[in-house]
Amino acid sequence: MADTKTENSSTATAEMPGENMVQVTFLPEGKTVEFEHGKLPYKEHGKPESILDVAINNHITLDHACGGNCACTTCHVWVKEGAENLSPMEDDEADRLDMAADLQLNSRLGCQVQIVKPGKVVVEIPAWNRNYVSEEH
Ligand code: FES
Repeated sequence: MADTKTENSSTATAEMPGENMVQVTFLPEGKTVEFEHGKLPYKEHGKPESILDVAINNHITLDHACGGNCACTTCHVWVKEGAENLSPMEDDEADRLDMAADLQLNSRLGCQVQIVKPGKVVVEIPAWNRNYVSEEH
């Protein structure tokens, strides 16, 4: 319990996740969730500990029309912070992202991008994705 470092800075530690903890913030909702790296229960959609997996675990709406199989772009997110804590992009993700609307340099597919080390990550869900309404046929 008394494992805190004695520092004189009152601001440096305020928003930092604890040791081996991952903190993910979803914008624009501003919802922040935290869990221990490597301990997130896998929810069977996308890659384990992917941004999609984090979203599903925490009841955050992130569309995943293809079930997390890198076959659509509905799980598109923009990485605003913490790219260094994420898996590098593989060819199939890059190929699929080419078809995404509003493609940016920080675009990733939520189902493919995995958290590979503890720390802080901030992602934004594009508006067109947030407002996406599934039509039943
Ligand atoms: S859910 Fe379809 S590509 Fe991610």
